Amino acid sequence: MIVDEKPVRPIWLDADQKTVKVIDQRQLPHRFVVADLTSVDAVIHAIREMFVRGAPLIGVTGAYGVMIAAMNGETAGDGPGFIRQECLRLKAARPTAVNLAWGVDRVLEVVMAAGTAADRIAAARNEAAAIAEEEAENCRRLGVHGAELIAAISREKKGGTVNILTHCNAGWLACIEYGTATAPIYEAFNRGVDLHVWVDETRPLNQGSRLTAWELGKHGVPHTVITDNAGGHLMQHGRVDIVIVGTDRSTHTGDVANKIGTYLKALAARDNGIPFYVALPSSTFDWTMTDGVKEIPIEERSPDEVRYVQGLADGRITRVLVPPESSPAADFAFDVTPARLVTGFVTERGVCGASEAEIHGLFPEC
Ligand code: MRU
Repeated sequence: MIVDEKPVRPIWLDADQKTVKVIDQRQLPHRFVVADLTSVDAVIHAIREMFVRGAPLIGVTGAYGVMIAAMNGETAGDGPGFIRQECLRLKAARPTAVNLAWGVDRVLEVVMAAGTAADRIAAARNEAAAIAEEEAENCRRLGVHGAELIAAISREKKGGTVNILTHCNAGWLACIEYGTATAPIYEAFNRGVDLHVWVDETRPLNQGSRLTAWELGKHGVPHTVITDNAGGHLMQHGRVDIVIVGTDRSTHTGDVANKIGTYLKALAARDNGIPFYVALPSSTFDWTMTDGVKEIPIEERSPDEVRYVQGLADGRITRVLVPPESSPAADFAFDVTPARLVTGFVTERGVCGASEAEIHGLFPEC
C-alpha cells in the first residue's frame, strides 16, 4: 500500500536475498520500525511476540522462515531432516491462524522435492515469494467482490454514507496488500462510495485503534475508533449498515475464528438484522475441521497483555498497569462465531453463504 507517498508492505526480502524485513507492528502507530529476521528463532519470536500478526502475514512469515531453515540446513549436516524439525518449531509459534501451518507446509513440500542444498534454498525463496504475491492478489480480488456489497448498500441509501463496523486489524498490515476486511472498504472508497468505518479498539492489544485506525487514516478513509462494547448500541440505533471482519481460521462448514469479541459482534448484528460478512483468502479455510467451536485451537496469551495498556506518554511508548497489582487476569485471544450467525464469506472467487455446500461450490477442488 502507499503510505506517505511510498509503497510499503509489512514483509519483504532484503536485497541480500537472505534477510527478512518486517514492520515491527508492536510499535505502531507511534513509531515505524523495521526489524531484521535472520534466524528461525528470530522468526518464531517475531510471530509469537506479534511484530507480525494477522493470518495471511503469519503464513508468509512462516514461509520465509522455511527459507531461513533451508539456509541453516546447509551447514547442519542433515539438511532435509533439520529443515523438517525447524518447520515443526515454526508451526508451533501460534496456534489459531491456519495460514501458518499452510504456508510452512507449502514451502516444505517444494524444498523436499529439490535435489541439492542450493536448490532447496532457491526453491524455498521462490515459493515464499510466490505465496506473498498470491495472497496480495487474492486480497485484491476479494476486495473487488466485497466492494459490491458496500456499493449495493450505498445505492439503497441513495448515496448516503455507508457505515461499516470492523474488529481487530484485518488490513494490509495483517496481509501483504489491501487486507481482508479492509480490501472491500479500500476498493469502495477508491470508487468514490461515501463510507465511514467504526473501528473497534480491540482490547487487549488494540489492533483496531493502533493499526486499523492508522491504516485507514493514511489512506484518507473516514473512520471513528470506538470501544469494543459500543457496537451493539450503534447497531440498535441504525448506525451500522454492515459488519465486515477477517478470520484466522474458518472451517469449510462456515464457523469463523477471529479476534476475541467477534462472536459478540455477530450476535448483536443478528439481533439487529445487520449483515455480518467475513473476508478471507482461501488459505484461511481449514478444509479438515467441521466444528469450529470444538476443534479450532484458541490461543491464550500472557495475562499481562490484559493487565497493562500500552500507549504514548511524553513522547515515549510506555505501558501502564490498570487492575490491582494482585488481580489475576486471563487473555483469550480468539473466539469462534458459528456459521449460523455469518451472512457470507467474501473470497477471491466471489461471495458465498456460510455453509459447506456454498463454500465447496466456490472451491470444488478442496
Ligand atoms: O492476534 P492477531 O492480531 O494476529 O489477530 C488478527 C486477527 O484476528 C485478524 O482479524 C485476522 O487475522 C484476520 S487478518 C486479515
